[in-house]
Amino acid sequence: MKYIDLRSDTVTRPSEAMRKAMYEAEVGDDVFQEDPTVNKLQNYAAELLGKEAALYVPSGTMGNQLCLNTWTSPGDEVICEMDAHIFNYESGSPAVLSGIQILPIVGNKGVITPEQVEPMIRPVSAYYMPKTRLIEVENTHNRAGGTIHPMENIIALEKLARKHSLYFHMDGARIWNASVATGIAVSEYASHFDSVSCCLSKGLGAPAGSIIAGSKDFIAKAFVRRKAWGGGMRQIGILAAAGLYALQNNIERLKEDHEKACTIAKSLSENPKVGVDLSSVQTNIIIVKPLSMKPEEMIMKCKEKGLLISGGKIDSVRIVTHLDAGFEDVKKTVKILEEVLD
Ligand SMILES: Cc1ncc(COP(=O)(O)O)c(C=O)c1O
Repeated sequence: MKYIDLRSDTVTRPSEAMRKAMYEAEVGDDVFQEDPTVNKLQNYAAELLGKEAALYVPSGTMGNQLCLNTWTSPGDEVICEMDAHIFNYESGSPAVLSGIQILPIVGNKGVITPEQVEPMIRPVSAYYMPKTRLIEVENTHNRAGGTIHPMENIIALEKLARKHSLYFHMDGARIWNASVATGIAVSEYASHFDSVSCCLSKGLGAPAGSIIAGSKDFIAKAFVRRKAWGGGMRQIGILAAAGLYALQNNIERLKEDHEKACTIAKSLSENPKVGVDLSSVQTNIIIVKPLSMKPEEMIMKCKEKGLLISGGKIDSVRIVTHLDAGFEDVKKTVKILEEVLD
């Protein structure tokens, strides 16, 4: 059976044009910093993000963890939202790789406010406590359902971070989605942070890779650590070409994915057998709470009819739109969901 796969925006396959760019990529040894395509991608991404420098890394997880590791020392503490990817989905690597701990705070739609964060910052005089070193923001927020972090809260959190001499990091795996949805440039988002990590392999459709960006000095340090962690690759321009193609061709079209998500979410919101918070459907992710069956049952029944969706939080399922599922697939999806819930 040919499935419509809406489990994640990571399931996309490189298009013909992207494969051509990969095939034709000029390559060199990137450990010597001599791969022209990697260098081109890094320069292009740094400019797009308005940062001094950028570094190509194999994954979003490595991107986030390199940033945390570069800013912290063992025993430090990082504050983030309870459902943050760095806390839930990166295999405990803040502890494993950096010897740091996370202080998670329950947010609203993935957002924590300065009023919540400030009391959690450890007093500098308390030498027996962990040292608060960094505040992290995820934008868009995956587990909250692709929600966008409001700019005024980013600015307020940045002010708080500066007041307490803390670093400020953005997990912008899907910052491109936030940017096309709000019209706020990715460089405007990035300007408030010391470091950002942005994925090329989610909605942008590249087969692998992420970018981290920050000051030249920061990226120079992260470059050394990337090698230490085994992330120094050689003729990697073949993959970087896909990332460059993605940045140059696939950002604006994310609007279509948002439209598709909106269509599915609206149809579901009219169905009394599920709960969908339409105000949370801001980009390409829909969190659906089935009310008449268990999430696993809904996932299985959808699969039987040719639709793949995934588990979300305990009581919900997750549907993610992307460039490999077109508007016709969306129509079919709406129909399958109606049948399954009937
Ligand atoms: C918000 C967020 N950050 C980071 C990552 C990690 O990316 P990767 O799967 O490339 O390690 C993901 C992956 O889904 C994500 O959703």
